[in-house]
Amino acid sequence: MKTQICIIGGGPSGLMLSQLLHLKGIDTIVLERQSREYVLGRIRAGVLEHGFAELMREAQCGERMDREGEIHEGFFIAHDGKLDRIDLHEHSGGSSVMVYGQTELTRDLYEARDRMGGKVIHNVEDVKINDVTSAAPFVTYRDGDEVVRIDCDYVIGADGFHGVSRKTIPADVLREHERLYPIGWLGVLSRTKPVSPELIYARHERGFALCSLRSQVLSRYYIQVPLTDTVEDWSDEAFWAELKKRLPEEVAARLETGPSIEKSIAPLRSFVAEPMRYGNLFLAGDAAHIVPPTGARGLNSAASDIYYLYHALVDHYQKGDDAGLEGYSAKALARVWKAQRFSWWMTMMLHTFPDGISYDRKLQETELQYLFSSEKALGSLAENYVGLPF
Ligand code: APR
Ligand code: PHB
Repeated sequence: MKTQICIIGGGPSGLMLSQLLHLKGIDTIVLERQSREYVLGRIRAGVLEHGFAELMREAQCGERMDREGEIHEGFFIAHDGKLDRIDLHEHSGGSSVMVYGQTELTRDLYEARDRMGGKVIHNVEDVKINDVTSAAPFVTYRDGDEVVRIDCDYVIGADGFHGVSRKTIPADVLREHERLYPIGWLGVLSRTKPVSPELIYARHERGFALCSLRSQVLSRYYIQVPLTDTVEDWSDEAFWAELKKRLPEEVAARLETGPSIEKSIAPLRSFVAEPMRYGNLFLAGDAAHIVPPTGARGLNSAASDIYYLYHALVDHYQKGDDAGLEGYSAKALARVWKAQRFSWWMTMMLHTFPDGISYDRKLQETELQYLFSSEKALGSLAENYVGLPF
């Protein structure tokens, strides 16, 4: 087979890029290791920054998001038994975020790719990226006993943190920067009315908690747990009881509980790989960087990668201009690091760390006091949360 762009990974990054390029007449093939059912069964976060919502519309995939998603102009931080609201709209100069599940967004992207005859190949095994430093790279994968070869101009590594693309870059070229946190988030999805119309991020000495939602009848809650805990350690009853302890009393009193329909634990990790380009291979999204979920930045730091790559590839094919491709890695990384900084800052401010010294706890308290006493600090939080410009 032959295509202009071979995209490894059929998550939101790969599908979005494929869709945008298709609308500009650029041919792509997407290779996905899992089945579609598997990809659409993964529960992921649910906050989209303004810029990502715009990209969905540009990709002609925004209709259901605009109908079913919720615009949020603020959220709460619970601390010291009280709720303080962050007015995103006021402090970001009129911006907001879209609450719409990433799983639904991925479904919309798959449907758009189907509608336009896009080529997305599932269940590919043993993907190998070859000759990326030459002008004629190719990708191979195994389909049963058969090895299939795809010749292309460029390879996009959008295959997430555990993908093959980043590992294709030689060790003497790739630099990896990582911070592991000794905690995880235990998440529960339940068919209950959300406790609050806007998200609540709670700092508590028992550990962090988050009240989020997918719709007015579907709630998503998280509590911080030790990394050694497993899902089996947490019955629904134990989860709800612990969540209530970490919320202000009046919030806990109105919390509607019910059976969990999904329960999982995710470790918190910060990670960046540099450079994001090696020859004709370009990394995008989770393949190159991971943030802890506290600032709702995961998909959003992928969004700018996709935006830059999309424009760079369109300039290459339509104008013969390679400046965007040449500058991609540096430009993408500059914004990636800002999302890293913000996610790290939110994480450090709101969690309880097992080895935390009293000095650090005092700093956390001061950080919150400063935040709610300074218009400038609120402005900084708001502009990062709604998303820095691409
Ligand atoms: N070959 C083909 N596909 C692969 C391979 C491989 N070797 N390895 C992984 N994949 C697929 C995975 O099955 C997955 O569907 O690549 C896809 C990568 O998707 P994501 O992990 O969702 O990454 P990305 O599209 O960059 O989306 C970023 O996802 O994890 C969240 O917080 C993150 O919101 C962010 C978003
Ligand atoms: C979620 O709804 O899953 C969610 C929301 C905000 C976050 C992280 C996760 O910061």
